[in-house]
Amino acid sequence: MKTYKLVLLGFGNVGQALVRLLLEKRSELEHRYSIRFLVAAVATRTHGRALNPDGLDLGKALEIMESGNSLDELSPSPAPIDNRELIKASGADVMFENTPVSYKDGQPAISYIETALENNMHAITANKGTVVHGCHHLQDLAADHGVKFFFESTVMDGVPIFSSFRQLPVVGLISIWGVLNSTTNLILSRLEAGDSFDEAVRYSQEIGIAETDPSGDIDGWDAAVKLAALITVLMDHPFTPHMVDRTGIRSITPEMIAKAKAEGKRYKLVAHAWKKGEKIKAKVSPELVSSNSILYNINETTAIVQFKSDVLGKLSFIEEDLGPRTTAYGLLADFINAVRG
Ligand SMILES: NC(=O)c1ccc[n+]([C@@H]2O[C@H](COP(=O)([O-])OP(=O)(O)OC[C@H]3O[C@@H](n4cnc5c(N)ncnc54)[C@H](OP(=O)(O)O)[C@@H]3O)[C@@H](O)[C@H]2O)c1
Repeated sequence: MKTYKLVLLGFGNVGQALVRLLLEKRSELEHRYSIRFLVAAVATRTHGRALNPDGLDLGKALEIMESGNSLDELSPSPAPIDNRELIKASGADVMFENTPVSYKDGQPAISYIETALENNMHAITANKGTVVHGCHHLQDLAADHGVKFFFESTVMDGVPIFSSFRQLPVVGLISIWGVLNSTTNLILSRLEAGDSFDEAVRYSQEIGIAETDPSGDIDGWDAAVKLAALITVLMDHPFTPHMVDRTGIRSITPEMIAKAKAEGKRYKLVAHAWKKGEKIKAKVSPELVSSNSILYNINETTAIVQFKSDVLGKLSFIEEDLGPRTTAYGLLADFINAVRG
C-alpha cells in the first residue's frame, strides 16, 4: 500500500475541512482504495508554516488553528518562507492549493501549482482563479509530467460537474444558467427573513461560506469567475471574469425585498452564459423570479446549475447546504481520482 505525501497551501476554512475529512475517511481510504496519506507540509500567510517529511500531527495542527497560535511550533526545523521552496522541500506526491482567489490573474496560486506539477506532484485546487487564468496551460504542464491538475471544487464544491462532463464526450453546450454563488443566495434569503444586510453578511462569514473579503461574493465576482470557469473548461473557450457583464446585489434594498415578497417573487443572483453565433455572452445580475421558476425554491446555501446542450436537452445539478465540508469532499474525490489514474 502506498503512502501519499501531501502538501497543503492554505489552511483556512477549506484546508482545515479537508484535513478533518481525510481523518474521518482514513480507514475507508486504506481499506477500499489502498491509499495511505501523511501531510508533509502546510503553509498559511499569517498563521505560520510547518514542514516534516515524516508527517505532521494533524490533530495538533487543527488545535493550533482553533487557538489562533502559529503552525511554526509543529515544524522540527524552520520551514522555508517561500511557498515554492516549501512545496519542493515537502517531497510530496499531491499538492492541495486552497489560498484566496485572485479574480485578476489567478496569482500567486498558479505559480504554486506550476511548481507542484514541475516536481511531478498532482495539483488539486478549489481556487477558481487558477482555472480561468491558467487551466489549459496547467493541464498541458500536468500532462507533460504524467500527473493531474484537478479542480472539481471550484464550482459548486463537491458536485461532480467537471468529472461528469469528462464522461460526456461530444456534448455541445448551448447555454449555462443558474445560481452559482451560495453566499449571495443566503444573504438574499436572510434579507427576506428580516436580517439587515450587515447581519446577513456576518452570518455567512460565521458559517464559513463567505470569502475572506465578502465583496467578491456581493459584487458578483464569485459568480462571474465560476461562470467563466465553466465556459473555459466545458465550452472550451477561454473566458475571464472581466468578460462577464456583472452586477452584484449591493443595490437590493430591504424595500425591494419586501415588495417582491408581497408579489410572491424573490430576487436571485442569476448567472447566464449562452452562445451567440461563434461568440459566447455571459451575464451575472440580480433577477426577480416568480414561484413558477425553478430558481424560486433555490434558497439559502443551495445552488443550481443547468446546462442546455445539443444532445441532452436540459441537465441540472442542485446542491443543498454547500460549505467547506462539501468543498473538501470535491478535493478528496479529486485526490482519489488523481492517484488511481
Ligand atoms: N469556503 C468555501 O466553502 C469555498 C468553496 C469553494 C471554493 N473555495 C475556494 O477555496 C479557497 C480557500 O477558501 P477558504 O474559505 O478556505 O479561505 P480562507 O478561510 O480565507 O483560507 C485561506 C487560507 O490561505 C492562506 N493563505 C493566504 N495567502 C497565502 C499565501 N500566499 N501562502 C500560503 N497561504 C496563504 C490563509 O492564511 P492566513 O489565514 O494566515 O491569511 C488561509 O490559511 C479560495 O480560493 C476559495 O475561493 C472556498
